[in-house]
Amino acid sequence: MFTLPPITLPGIDAYAEAHSAPDPAQLAGLAGNDLGMGHLISGPLVSGLLRLIIHTLQPKLVLDIGTFTGYSALSMAVALPEGARVISCEIDPERAEVARKHIAEAGYADAVSVRVGPALKTIAEIEEPLDLVFIDADKPNYHHYYSATLPRLSARGLIACDNTLWRGEIIDANSTDPDVRALRNFNDAVAADPRCESVMLTVRDGVTLIRRV
Ligand SMILES: C[S@@+](CC[C@H](N)C(=O)[O-])C[C@H]1O[C@@H](n2cnc3c(N)ncnc32)[C@H](O)[C@@H]1O
Repeated sequence: MFTLPPITLPGIDAYAEAHSAPDPAQLAGLAGNDLGMGHLISGPLVSGLLRLIIHTLQPKLVLDIGTFTGYSALSMAVALPEGARVISCEIDPERAEVARKHIAEAGYADAVSVRVGPALKTIAEIEEPLDLVFIDADKPNYHHYYSATLPRLSARGLIACDNTLWRGEIIDANSTDPDVRALRNFNDAVAADPRCESVMLTVRDGVTLIRRV
């Protein structure tokens, strides 16, 4: 599996992975990633974190923003309580189709609905409260995904945002990279938002957990 350059000391991510629960068998076909670009997959540490959150939260509805091959959607689906479901947003129809295939093969077609189109449109169509939101799509839209979902969180709801430390480049205040700039603005806005409490975890590429206060 292609991995991102770690933001921690060399060897730490591999050590952490080796001392964390392995990916469940249902994710086996996805770790290799049949679309190339395996670096887009959130990876075993984030998958394990999401599953632990789900076991604790016992959500009814999970929103996965950025499906790709279905790795994060399936990671969360395997941990869901009976009757709960995941809505996963993907703008690329080909990726959505690959994800649907994986999800069906793993036996989770009833629990995971992959919606094709801009995630903001899909979010606007959802009426139920959101118990867990995983934000992992286009970085310039992170603040829009956050603004659209924070008010919709259930009482114990959480938002988890992936890649918020962006290979460590996030600390470069002079970066002209549009993703770095978008994520820096997003991180600043969340840290200053009195409507939420957040913690930025140095897990893999950075994961920020946010709850509404
Ligand atoms: C980093 S990948 C998601 C990886 C996935 N969460 C995982 O853990 O394997 C981001 C995905 O978001 C999709 N995407 C980008 N912009 C989007 C948008 N506006 N609405 C929905 N999906 C979008 C991309 O096509 C891509 O497949």
